[in-house]
Amino acid sequence: MALFLADCLQEDPGLVLGLPTGRTPVPMYRALVRLHRQGRVDFSRATTFNLDEFVGLPAEHPGTYRAFMERHLFAHVNLNPARTHVPHGDAASPRAEAARYEAMIAAAGGLDVAVIGIGGNGHIGFNEPAASLPAGTNGVTLRRASRAANAAAFGGQLARVPHRAISMGVGTILSARHVLLLATGADKADIVAKALRGPVTTRVPASLLQLHPRAAVILDRAAAKKLTSR
Ligand code: GLP
Repeated sequence: MALFLADCLQEDPGLVLGLPTGRTPVPMYRALVRLHRQGRVDFSRATTFNLDEFVGLPAEHPGTYRAFMERHLFAHVNLNPARTHVPHGDAASPRAEAARYEAMIAAAGGLDVAVIGIGGNGHIGFNEPAASLPAGTNGVTLRRASRAANAAAFGGQLARVPHRAISMGVGTILSARHVLLLATGADKADIVAKALRGPVTTRVPASLLQLHPRAAVILDRAAAKKLTSR
C-alpha cells in the first residue's frame, strides 16, 4: 500500500491525496515514514486532505484527527504544512467550514487518490448509514458505535468523544480519480462482505464504492473471510 502510494508520488509529485485516520492506516503511515527516511518517497510537492475531523475540540486537543496525522505522518515526512488540510473542527460555523473545505478540494483540482477506511457500520469518512447522504463535505452527527470506536483517543471515555464531525461527502470521495479502501481484522469481515457484495445503498455507505470505476480494495485475510467467490 505504502509502496503503491510511493509509486504514485514518483509518477506525479504534485499528487492530491485524501487521507484517513483510524487504526487501519497506521501501518501504512509507518511504512511511508520508513520509505521517506530511506529517501524513497518525496512529499514536498504533494497536497493532502483528510477525510474528516471532530467538531468542537480545541485545535491543541490530542484527540483531534489533525493531532493524529501529526503523530503518524505529518511530523515525520517532508509535506509542506500549508498543503496538509484537515477540516477545522473548531470553526465558529461547521457548515461554513465544510463549504470552505469542499471549495479547497475543488481548487486543488479534486482528489487524485482517496485512501479510505471503513467503519464497523459501513461508514466512509464519517458518513453514517442513512436514508440519504449529502454529496459534499458536511457537518454530520456521529452514531454511538462510531463514537465508541474512537473512545481510545479520549481516555476510553465515550462521554468525551464529540457528537459531531465535519466529513467529506460521499460525492467528494467518489469524485476522486482513484479510491483505495483499506480494511483489516476479523471484525470488519461482515461489513466488507456487505459493502462489496451487497446492494448499493446509503444504509451501507461503503457500498457506494461499487459505483466507482477505479476503486481498489486492500484487505487482509481476516477482513476478506466472508467474501465468497461468485
Ligand atoms: C473512523 C474514521 C473513519 C475510519 C473508520 C474506521 O472513525 N472516521 O474514516 O475509516 O472510523 O476506523 P478503524 O480503522 O479504526 O477501524
